[in-house]
Amino acid sequence: MTTETQQSTDGGGVATSGETLTVTDNRTGRTYEIPIQDGTIRATELRKIKVDDDDFGLMTYDPAYMATASCRSAITYIDGDRGILEYRGYPIEQLAENSTYLEVAYLLIHGHLPSRQELDEWDHMITIHTFVHENVKEFMQGFRYDAHPMGMLLASVGALSTFYPEASAIKDPEVRYTQVIRLLAKMPTLAAFAYRHNRGMPYVYPDNDLSYPANFLSMIYKVAELKYNADPRLERALDVLFILHADHEQNCSTSAVRSVGSSQVDPYSAIAAGVAALYGPLHGGANEQVLRMLRRIEHKDNVPDFVKGVKAGNERLMGFGHRVYKNYDPRAKIIQRACYDVFEVTGTNPLLDLALELEKIALEDEYFIERKLYPNVDFYSGIIYEALGMPVEMFPVLFAIGRTAGWIAQWLEMIDDQEQKISRPRQIYTGPRGQQYVPISER
Ligand code: SDX
Repeated sequence: MTTETQQSTDGGGVATSGETLTVTDNRTGRTYEIPIQDGTIRATELRKIKVDDDDFGLMTYDPAYMATASCRSAITYIDGDRGILEYRGYPIEQLAENSTYLEVAYLLIHGHLPSRQELDEWDHMITIHTFVHENVKEFMQGFRYDAHPMGMLLASVGALSTFYPEASAIKDPEVRYTQVIRLLAKMPTLAAFAYRHNRGMPYVYPDNDLSYPANFLSMIYKVAELKYNADPRLERALDVLFILHADHEQNCSTSAVRSVGSSQVDPYSAIAAGVAALYGPLHGGANEQVLRMLRRIEHKDNVPDFVKGVKAGNERLMGFGHRVYKNYDPRAKIIQRACYDVFEVTGTNPLLDLALELEKIALEDEYFIERKLYPNVDFYSGIIYEALGMPVEMFPVLFAIGRTAGWIAQWLEMIDDQEQKISRPRQIYTGPRGQQYVPISER
């Protein structure tokens, strides 16, 4: 049997000796040495494996990217087996305890914690950009009275690209920075306007005297009072929720932002794609579905029958399971604790007891244990949002506000990554070939 060893030549990096995969193609008897780097092999290395010169070469086939790294990133680290989440190396528990959302946004986007002067400048720039063009109110009015606020947010974020056409100059660092500030500043305003439209209430303009979370609560809840002052415990709980939702490496919506952004479109359009992906019930829309599920279960006595239905495949236990976490989502633990802080102000929410009972039963059940299904970030967040008085339709919108910092950080990293280019996967073609057109009169 002849063996031909193909040594890596392009882009495969220089594997340290022994860090290679030896592959034998039994169709030809040829052997290939493929470098292993960072626990991966470059898929393009497989293109060398051919049966003849006309052969395109091997590819990988990985529906839903179960085992495919799409990029190198220094932003967020997750260890799914140990339930570890770090933003730029800082444990999420420390950031939730000590930081603010705007400081975490700075960390994610700049890669380091800000000095006092840097944070004050960052906070000031975001605060003075919270207003949106008056035309935004007019097209918001065009939505049905009961339009889902996530659909309105999706449309409004994309529409911002028409108000700031200069944003398409994505190679200009100063232009990029201005859009970063605008996105962080205006996302809560757009979200609040969508809520107020959905509730048939007048829009509340941003109050630049208030903190980021307090300003959002003011734009949501202010009615006739001259100034809306949120309870500081609720303001803090919302800030922690924004921190916990800020980034999560290459999740569905971030991958959408990176893929759409790889065409070099403006950041508003790229992040609108992220909002669209997050809207889905398997992703950011899960928190809304958790509340609907808990309301449907209604009482602890109904939990065993509900769990039986899940195990029979009738439906999923929303808020449970994760592609990466095969242990408890660290964010869920923090949110569960934050529930009690919020309930000090709002009074308890009976759905929490129901959720705790559901979690207890599920975590003792073989079906969930063998599939390593644990509560994820969405399981308890909806309970807090409901305690804050938010309607379920707003839950994915609140997720989007927090995730905006991560989407921005990932978009910026993608633009500066010299290894990246326009995202364009290949396919396995399964359709017919050589069809002959038949005039409709003969069909
Ligand atoms: C988020 O990726 C991220 O980082 C996302 C996120 C972020 O911060 O960006 O963390 C936010 O989206 C959290 C996830 C929110 N979604 C939900 O809570 C919806 C319910 N969860 C599932 O739909 C599911 O767990 C996913 C979508 C989260 C993960 O799905 P996977 O990894 O593709 O797993 P799978 O669908 O292949 O399921 C594996 C098995 C299957 O059973 P079998 O076919 O092997 O018998 O587990 C079962 C599934 O049926 N399963 C569930 C389940 N989740 C998976 N069974 C019941 N209830 C569930 N929730």
